[in-house]
Amino acid sequence: MTGDELPHEIEVSSDDHSHASGEQWRGSGESASRRALPDGGTDAAEPEEGATLDPWGSDTIADYRKLFEEFGIEEFDELLGEVPNPHYLMRRGVIFGHRDYRRVADAMQNDEPFAALSGFMPTGDPHIGHKLVFDEIIWHQQQGGDAYALIADLEANSARGMSWDEIDEHARDYLLSLLALGFDPEEGTIYRQSGDREVQDLAFELGAHANFSELENIYGFSGETNVSHMQSVVTQMADILYPQLDEPKPTVIPVGPDQDPHVRLARDLAARTQFFGVTKAYASFEADAEERELLAAAHAALSDELEESGDETDETVRCEDAAEWLIEEIAPDDVRERIVGKLREAGKEPLRPRVRFLDRNATDEAFEALIDAVEGDKRVFDEHVDSFDLSREAAEDLAREVELDHGGYGFVAPSSIYHRFMTGLTGGKMSSSVPASHISLLDDPEDGYDKVKAATTGGRETAEKQRELGGRADECPVYELYAYLLAGDDDEFAKQVYDECVGGERLCGDCKEQAAQLMEEFLAEHQEKREEVEDLLEEADIELDSDRKRN
Ligand code: TRP
Ligand code: SF4
Repeated sequence: MTGDELPHEIEVSSDDHSHASGEQWRGSGESASRRALPDGGTDAAEPEEGATLDPWGSDTIADYRKLFEEFGIEEFDELLGEVPNPHYLMRRGVIFGHRDYRRVADAMQNDEPFAALSGFMPTGDPHIGHKLVFDEIIWHQQQGGDAYALIADLEANSARGMSWDEIDEHARDYLLSLLALGFDPEEGTIYRQSGDREVQDLAFELGAHANFSELENIYGFSGETNVSHMQSVVTQMADILYPQLDEPKPTVIPVGPDQDPHVRLARDLAARTQFFGVTKAYASFEADAEERELLAAAHAALSDELEESGDETDETVRCEDAAEWLIEEIAPDDVRERIVGKLREAGKEPLRPRVRFLDRNATDEAFEALIDAVEGDKRVFDEHVDSFDLSREAAEDLAREVELDHGGYGFVAPSSIYHRFMTGLTGGKMSSSVPASHISLLDDPEDGYDKVKAATTGGRETAEKQRELGGRADECPVYELYAYLLAGDDDEFAKQVYDECVGGERLCGDCKEQAAQLMEEFLAEHQEKREEVEDLLEEADIELDSDRKRN
């Protein structure tokens, strides 16, 4: 109906590691190489050809390693030790990646404010895949964060062509499950995109910092894309920054990796609205990240040389000397040529590391105030100020403080965490359009039981072989059910299932029977809780009946 279905999908690779949920028990396998994440402003660079993440495409990821290598998502494992009381989805590697989550972990550790927000398109029944995200929001709320859950009704209407009646019905169902799982609506915030004026206003402001070509590049939008679909994108940008409207704070967006393009754009827009950009610099001229790497190398080498020579007459590294050093030490390429040119032009100017405040959107008054506020050694230029004493973090804090004092948003770049998609019970992807492939939170408990009993497994052809070789828990949708849901917080139990399976002690028939019973119990209990929280939803500040016209 919208005529803007997107063709992109992640390239399929034969060595699919996408269901390695047992990774934690085996000890991590290969560790993918990571690209350092440039801070704010620059991380929306398009990845190499052949791989795209499509928020409106299919929910499968052929190769999670590519997300680290090509998209710059960071590995969650490396941060796990810094997270207080990590959730079981974190401990079990279901949450596998993040952007900038350290900010949030730090805030949790230091008892500072932080927030978590995610959104749900009300296109069908909430299912066990959505439960992962509900749980993530709720966990952050329990850790003391401001928690937000929103119904992406504008997106469902414009990108999926859902009617308002359908949207209202599904919205209710999502929220009831969220509350049933433990979200506290009095402490936290629930809203629908169409019902929140502040979100709409923020979306408008943010839209002024993005243009069509950019959306075309990121999402594959074309001349056929309907305008409301584009509006739903800026609305999502506003959702992501909404928790910071009262006060800037680290904010985590728990989502599937298909939403990463949205996260990157939101991080970019947060940077673009800033009064001041803070970067590292070495001299009065501008240099990009690659050039700065060479400048850093030249500066380090030449200051060492000066120190060793003990020459007291001139302790300054000069730009022209750095140019000569680079020519001798670094293989020629475009980057080297560019920076050597700049260095030669700067001649005798000292090469000195510094942090630079760039005037992006500041008023004259705010720029003046910043100049006054920078303490210690500094140099003032027309459109930037260089400080020789401040650390980068201190500079960012100062820039935000001045921005807030002068009526700006002061957004902190939003963070994200990414969970693995669950494998469908029938193998392949879990799809809302294939009922047997997933379990809806509204499924009759007995149907839930039956679906688990009918699921494909990672078992061997015969019981004998299974005893001899062990089962393939890492490729088993039933094991996933244990790890993602049925074992709950009980790591011992999840580990036991895994070990017994791969050790050949566990046979699929019994294993599925146990899982099916647990699923039936879970669904029955969940649905009972849904009924109990109906009053809570009635009391919550959210309008669930849209009075929109039918066309
Ligand atoms: N685009 C998301 C989806 O497809 C829904 C969504 C809207 C969202 N706004 C959000 C997700 C903000 C995370 C944060 O389901
Ligand atoms: Fe899967 Fe259980 Fe069979 Fe192992 S024993 S392959 S976990 S169903």
